[in-house]
Amino acid sequence: MTHPLTILGIESSCDDTAAAVVRGNDVVASVVYGQTSLHANFGGVVPEIAARAHAEKLDHCIEEALSKAEVTLADLDGIAVTAGPGLIGGVLSGVMCAKGLSAATGLPLIGVNHLAGHALTPRLTDQVSYPYLMLLVSGGHCQFLIAKSHDQFRRIGGTIDDAPGEAFDKTARLLGLPQPGGPSVEKAAQTGDPKRFALPRPLLNQPGCDMSFSGLKTAILRARDSVVAEKGGLTQQDQADLSASFQAAVTDVLVEKTRRALDIYLQSSPTRPVFAIAGGVAANGQIRTALMALCAALDTDFVAPPLHLCTDNAAMIAYAGLEQMQAGHCDDLTLSARPRWPLDQSAAPMLGSGKKGAKA
Ligand code: KG4
Ligand code: ZN
Repeated sequence: MTHPLTILGIESSCDDTAAAVVRGNDVVASVVYGQTSLHANFGGVVPEIAARAHAEKLDHCIEEALSKAEVTLADLDGIAVTAGPGLIGGVLSGVMCAKGLSAATGLPLIGVNHLAGHALTPRLTDQVSYPYLMLLVSGGHCQFLIAKSHDQFRRIGGTIDDAPGEAFDKTARLLGLPQPGGPSVEKAAQTGDPKRFALPRPLLNQPGCDMSFSGLKTAILRARDSVVAEKGGLTQQDQADLSASFQAAVTDVLVEKTRRALDIYLQSSPTRPVFAIAGGVAANGQIRTALMALCAALDTDFVAPPLHLCTDNAAMIAYAGLEQMQAGHCDDLTLSARPRWPLDQSAAPMLGSGKKGAKA
């Protein structure tokens, strides 16, 4: 038997500087330096600030990952780096750093699509077989993908405007709840009445798996304004009811669109059907429970990798690089950084740009 490959992964496409060492299916070390505090005053990620912070932190982050993994560069089989999609300055910082390491050591360089990193995580953590259905749902992404191989993905739907995490964050801001909005809206919703405000379920009346969340943000703004106009402010119960109504609307949309995506996926008669979820919004208890129930009803396994591997990290990049290298796909020093890089080249391009950068 050949020994499992040991790969260094590097991620810097958004607001997390990350490095990890993965050996086979084992995450030997994973280090993430977040930048939340650097962008806190600006209402979103500032690309130039992000790029500078990545350039400053990458080598420290890589050193820490190698030291935690108790390996040196000489123990590695390859260097995998996010080459897109994302904020171009950050992606360039990572790609240049990886090229420098590859040139100095002679190690193979592997350029990885960030979304492929997320999409292959269920194989890293649960050794799921192809094909499986994946929902990426975070502050920057929202799409359904059927993963057929390490480089073959079919996108069967996604958001046409904002990602749900963005909508959770905006809702929290409108209600005066702390950031990140997802956890605080979820907490407030626990004591709220999900039926008090009749919020829209966008695009549910249209066929297909595409989603839209920007109208929901506007609906929450209007509902809040009408309460404030009536009472002069929001009580804790108003906050809870608005949060619960918002969360119920997002859950309904995700569940119905997942039902349709599963329908399409199951038509391919996979031997052991699997639905996997990744991204920060996958942490939401109500959404998770509803999707689990849907999968159980359709005899489909539900896989949710641990949260630290669902959100941005470099272990997923190292693992995607490992699969690419095993398939004989390596890059050379001509590797370029790509701000946009759809996983499914045949799907119609997704328009718009989220607060965390271009949508792939
Ligand atoms: O995957 P992630 O860490 O970063 C990217 O956006 O790429 O996701 C962060 C997003 C934020 O918008 C955050 O509000 C949301 O995930 N989130 C949640 C929860 N925890 C985090 N949304 C809903 N419920 C949660 N419990
Ligand atoms: Zn991501």
